[in-house]
Amino acid sequence: MNIDDSTYCRLDTSRFSPEPALFFVFGASGDLASRKIFPALYDLYLEHQLPQDLLMIGVARREYGTKQFRELLHDACVAHSRHRSEALHDEAWSDFSGRIFYLRNDVEDADSYGAIRKLVVERDRGALAGLSPDARLPENTLYYLAVTPELFPLIAEHLGRSGCGSDASAKGWRRLVVEKPYGKDQQSAARLTESLHRWFEERDIYRIDHYLGKEAVQNLLHFRFANTIFEPVWNRNYIDRIEITVAEQDGIGTRGGYYDGFGAARDMLQNHLTQLLCLTVMEPPASLSPEHIRDEKVKVLRAIPEYSDAQILARARRGQYVSGVSAGGNTVPDYRAEQKVRPDSTTETYASLTLSVENWRFSGVPITLRTGKALAEKYSEIVLYFKRPPTALFAALCGDLLAPNSLTVRIQPDEGIWLSFNAKVPGEPAIRSNSLRFSYREVADYFPEAYERLILDALSGDSTLFIRADESELAWRLIDRLEAAWAGARPDASPREGGLFRYPAGTALKVLREQIEEPSRLEGGG
Ligand SMILES: NC(=O)c1ccc[n+]([C@@H]2O[C@H](COP(=O)([O-])OP(=O)(O)OC[C@H]3O[C@@H](n4cnc5c(N)ncnc54)[C@H](OP(=O)(O)O)[C@@H]3O)[C@@H](O)[C@H]2O)c1
Repeated sequence: MNIDDSTYCRLDTSRFSPEPALFFVFGASGDLASRKIFPALYDLYLEHQLPQDLLMIGVARREYGTKQFRELLHDACVAHSRHRSEALHDEAWSDFSGRIFYLRNDVEDADSYGAIRKLVVERDRGALAGLSPDARLPENTLYYLAVTPELFPLIAEHLGRSGCGSDASAKGWRRLVVEKPYGKDQQSAARLTESLHRWFEERDIYRIDHYLGKEAVQNLLHFRFANTIFEPVWNRNYIDRIEITVAEQDGIGTRGGYYDGFGAARDMLQNHLTQLLCLTVMEPPASLSPEHIRDEKVKVLRAIPEYSDAQILARARRGQYVSGVSAGGNTVPDYRAEQKVRPDSTTETYASLTLSVENWRFSGVPITLRTGKALAEKYSEIVLYFKRPPTALFAALCGDLLAPNSLTVRIQPDEGIWLSFNAKVPGEPAIRSNSLRFSYREVADYFPEAYERLILDALSGDSTLFIRADESELAWRLIDRLEAAWAGARPDASPREGGLFRYPAGTALKVLREQIEEPSRLEGGG
């Protein structure tokens, strides 16, 4: 870290420090486990951030032994860890992998929870074949559910019935980490919460939105509430509109089976973009405690009006890609010709929604959330556009050519913050927009992956970056309205009336917006 130590304020996070645990990964033979979870654990190990005595136990049906499982994870870490450019250090790998075990288990079979119970409740070391005699069996337990969400209630139930769920009388804690998607609508999310709550306390449930683990997203709170110069203008008196964009270049690839039943609004707007919205417009929390921060996010969601069908259709746009050429020069098939997609599918691969947050601070400020697949660009950012200067002096002379000031929070790639302002062009009687740019990569060389942050926080009991049940349900309430309005609209209607706009893969976001958004929303956007 090349930050001047005299200006470096290390926050006291001692109340949250990662504790040793039995770390069960359900779905250990799957894609998420091998691409994200175990490489993140390995990176944390190399950064000396993993607690001593952490034991990692992969759970899946495949017939692996512990030795074979470790070998597979070796290859996964070589391919996906943040330290992959360095050769895997034999000694480090041997120590790290010595803490990894494999339990063959069909999670749908109640009888197969015996070994887990032996470890968690009976504390029988013999249940972990190959555990060295001097290794400590931690009191705490974390269950990471990296399996299809249909299995979440069943796994929670079997764990609970085996005595492995939340238990105030147990010596250590027992936490459940669940992946997205968390429900498909408000009702199913509420049902899922109800079924998890039968066996796990809300305080022990950690719902992942990996966007919140990204450094630039975490920085939103630091940036807003550790400075005096931005907060006074962070309101409807100065801000004209806000745009939050997550643009992706890839199509849906092999995820058709899942995606076609979800679409961009459920897959992205409900979670990642809504979370960015909350962090951008929430009030300062009473403290940095997880509950105070999450309370403020919930207040934002409550302040979004309950739009009628006509109102939400006018505020939303949906699109679906057709065959085209990707930014990398590859031919992308028509969405309807992708694997496991219905040939007459009206699932949207592009969605935008302009809403307002009717609280004292932001009432009336249009906030656009937009996301799309198979676009020309790949980036995520939040842009706050400030109001124009009064129509006098330069504004009177330049009119619309005088760009509004804007503040861009770039989440990926090129994490940073850019402030645009107008200045004279040297040697000419002209004004031009310029920017002050802060780049994270220039001030830091340690950039943890989102999953590293989230795993550490779950091991520490810090739930700030995880979604609370009420947050998830309120976000679904908004998306349910949108989905219901779209379901009632004709796909061949105009974009403003809820029609499905079909765009060639590889289309530039700017071009797409010009075709389907209101002219008033187009100025200044990238
Ligand atoms: N992959 C990603 O990048 C990603 C990103 C965000 C969220 N997620 C979420 O993470 C979860 C897992 O995704 P994934 O892509 O890793 O899926 P995946 O590759 O299909 O893996 C599923 C895992 O579940 C295990 N499994 C399935 N049925 C089982 C059973 N009855 N008993 C025990 N294990 C069982 C499978 O192991 P066996 O076949 O060996 O039993 C496999 O390890 C999903 O909720 C997904 O939405 C994934």
